[in-house]
Amino acid sequence: MLFSKAMDKKTPEKDPQSDILIGHGAFGVDYVPKKLRARVEGGRVYAGKKGEIPSGKAKAIPLDRFTIALFRVDDEYYAIKDACPHADYPLSKSQLVSRYTVMCTSHNWQFDIRDGHCVKIGHCGHATPDLTVRSFPVEVEGEDLWVVVESRGAP
Ligand code: FES
Repeated sequence: MLFSKAMDKKTPEKDPQSDILIGHGAFGVDYVPKKLRARVEGGRVYAGKKGEIPSGKAKAIPLDRFTIALFRVDDEYYAIKDACPHADYPLSKSQLVSRYTVMCTSHNWQFDIRDGHCVKIGHCGHATPDLTVRSFPVEVEGEDLWVVVESRGAP
C-alpha cells in the first residue's frame, strides 16, 4: 500500500536553471529563484524604465534558460546574452572599456555590445569576429524598454 502511494506522487518539475550551479559553467553565475525571473510575453521581455540603468552600465535580466545583459550608452540600449563564451562569466558584471566594447572581468576577452562579436581575446589581442555572444533587439516604447528574445514573422 505504501509503495503504491509513493508511485502515485508526481515527479516535481525540474528547475531549468539548477544545473548551472554544478560543474563547468557555474563560474560567476548567480542563482535566480524562478519567481524572480522575467517572463517572456509576445516574444519579448519587459526590461524596465529607461532611467533605471546609468549610462555606461548594464542590468542583468534573468529568464528561465539564460540571462540577458542590457547595456545603456547615453540614450542607446543594447542587449546581449549575459555569459562570456570563454567560461560563462556574466558580462553585465564587466566594464565598458570603450563606447561599445565590454571587457569580461574574468580573462579580459572583449565584445562589441551592438552585435556581440568578439573584438579581442584576452592578452594575446586577437580579434575573432566569428566568435559572437548572442545579441537581441531592444525596443523603446515611451519610457519602457523591451528586449525581443524570440524571432517574429514567417519562418
Ligand atoms: S570568462 Fe570571460 S574571458 Fe574568460
